[in-house]
Amino acid sequence: MSSFPLRVFSGIKPSGDLHLGNYLGAIKRFVPLQKTHACIYCVVDLHAITVWQDPADLKRATYEVAAAYLAAGVDPKSHIIFNQSQVIEHSELAWIFNCVARMGWMQRMTQFKDKAGKNSQNVSLGLFAYPSLMAADILLYKSTHVPVGEDQKQHLELTRDIAQKFNNDFATSIKDNAYDADFFPLSEPVITGPATKVLSLRDGTKKMSKSEASSMATIYMLDDADAIAKKIKKAKSDPEPLPSETDGLKDRPEAANLVGIYASLADMSQQQVLDQFGGKGFGTFKPALAELAVESLSPIASEMRRYLAEPDIIEEILKDGANRAGDIAKNTMREVRNIVGFVG
Ligand code: AMP
Ligand code: TRP
Repeated sequence: MSSFPLRVFSGIKPSGDLHLGNYLGAIKRFVPLQKTHACIYCVVDLHAITVWQDPADLKRATYEVAAAYLAAGVDPKSHIIFNQSQVIEHSELAWIFNCVARMGWMQRMTQFKDKAGKNSQNVSLGLFAYPSLMAADILLYKSTHVPVGEDQKQHLELTRDIAQKFNNDFATSIKDNAYDADFFPLSEPVITGPATKVLSLRDGTKKMSKSEASSMATIYMLDDADAIAKKIKKAKSDPEPLPSETDGLKDRPEAANLVGIYASLADMSQQQVLDQFGGKGFGTFKPALAELAVESLSPIASEMRRYLAEPDIIEEILKDGANRAGDIAKNTMREVRNIVGFVG
């Protein structure tokens, strides 16, 4: 196996408002990786339009995701922040991967099944092909690590299958062109920490998501302190005190969720949280969690608002990022075109 330089890629769709699940499951975890890896963080607008986006909302949400990356502490100079549609090679590689991936693989994707529901004949073709575009995002940069929430695990397995099939199908051409036999890496998912699946605050069977009907179920990154505290205090819980061991959280999804959120915000393990709060009821735990959440999220929200007031700065950052991402992408596509046998 040849060794690839350590490179992180991840993306968030500019659709709807960013929430605590996006922050704890993804954005917060992007930041420390900058110490050890070259990181590329993308606003995946091509993915967003797989379901209808009002153009004005798409723009607003694109600025919002970029502002969240910046406010959370991603450094756009040492690393890269850009929006996907500015680097056309994403679409180009996605098409080639559409011809590598098999129908059967795509039909197994649970996220498509969940999103399409009973409506599967009437959703866009793009929604079905979505995971192939995601594989292109990752492999265009030969990324080795992909930090995401748990819901993306299956898409990353598919990305590895596509990489492997491309490497195998084109093995002779890869060799003839004198490229490494492992042309694309088998990228590793990075799904770690206590909050890789943040649940709805109103329903412990559902994940927190942009499409949740009740706004009390979701903490948005731009919520003010009062809204955050209110939502946590009203969050669904149960009448038992918190256990002192993590085993005791097993059949208590709402309690486990709140403990996980606390742990992630405080950079603690769930056990450390229980060492502190085991035996205490939600009457004690929720106010402590609300205080922690306000303390951690408010400065990020104000920093986001500061960036959102200066869209020109965001545009410049995205343009510069797209130029630097584009250099890497063009290089990969030159190789891919040779390998596939395109003339010119
Ligand atoms: P999306 O909003 O679907 O573009 O998701 C962007 C990132 O946030 C992905 O890495 C998701 O896995 C992550 N994510 C979304 N919702 C949650 C959640 N409820 N808990 C943890 N991670 C999440
Ligand atoms: N599919 C991801 C989501 O819905 C977003 C995404 C698109 C992504 N391309 C990616 C995540 C590449 C990681 C790497 O959350």
